[in-house]
Amino acid sequence: MDLRIFDGPDDAALALAQRVADTVVRRPEAVLGLATGRSPVAAYAELRRMSAAGQVDFSRASTFNLDEFAGVDAAHPGSFRRFMKEHLFDGVALEPARIHFLNGVATDLDAECERYECELDAAGGMDLLILGIGSNGHIGFNEPGDQLVARTHRVRLHEVTRRDNAALFGGNIDNVPREALSMGMGTILRAREVALIATGERKARCIERAVRGFLTTRLPASFLQTHGRVELFLDRAAAALL
Ligand code: F6R
Repeated sequence: MDLRIFDGPDDAALALAQRVADTVVRRPEAVLGLATGRSPVAAYAELRRMSAAGQVDFSRASTFNLDEFAGVDAAHPGSFRRFMKEHLFDGVALEPARIHFLNGVATDLDAECERYECELDAAGGMDLLILGIGSNGHIGFNEPGDQLVARTHRVRLHEVTRRDNAALFGGNIDNVPREALSMGMGTILRAREVALIATGERKARCIERAVRGFLTTRLPASFLQTHGRVELFLDRAAAALL
């Protein structure tokens, strides 16, 4: 894995944004995979700024978000679609038809996962996938456990993940859905390039295990070691144990 370590979270975010912009400038019809969560927020803000300044044009790019909560529709304040609208989509000129999302309120959630996987295949797969990492080592919503699932699938969220996402649901963990839909490990590992951002000391232990540890389903991010083109954008705190 290619480690890029920055003095602080802002520098890591600027570098990630530049990495995304470079991809889109080089290949305007790039297919991007996108994460939500706190980690990429500053990078998305920088991409909005770059877009407004005419430094990058997203009008021919496509996006596929990694995951969505089950039972939450696009308008719900806790939905990842709403999050993306606020942090990125409203500030860059993406074509709405090229923004792809899992539908958390589809009547048949398994069929919805299959539909998404096919839609991604039809788009030619992801050129660049932006990832965060959960404090338990999850990527997307592929939670640690005895096994991992290759394709886009329904997930039972761990308590720690629900707690980490409570802010989106009025700060109350009881309001956080117990289930989500997520790209699978195979889906993630098929992205041609991966850029993972992690900042803050809370991520230091899982970053150390992901980079230096054994491959294990107990730390899904460890499987990124098998991918030839992964860049990690870290601040010093997240990289402290490396
Ligand atoms: C979100 C996602 C998650 C987050 C992870 C880190 O779409 O896929 O894997 O990237 O939970 O979240 P933050 O950045 O809030 O620490």
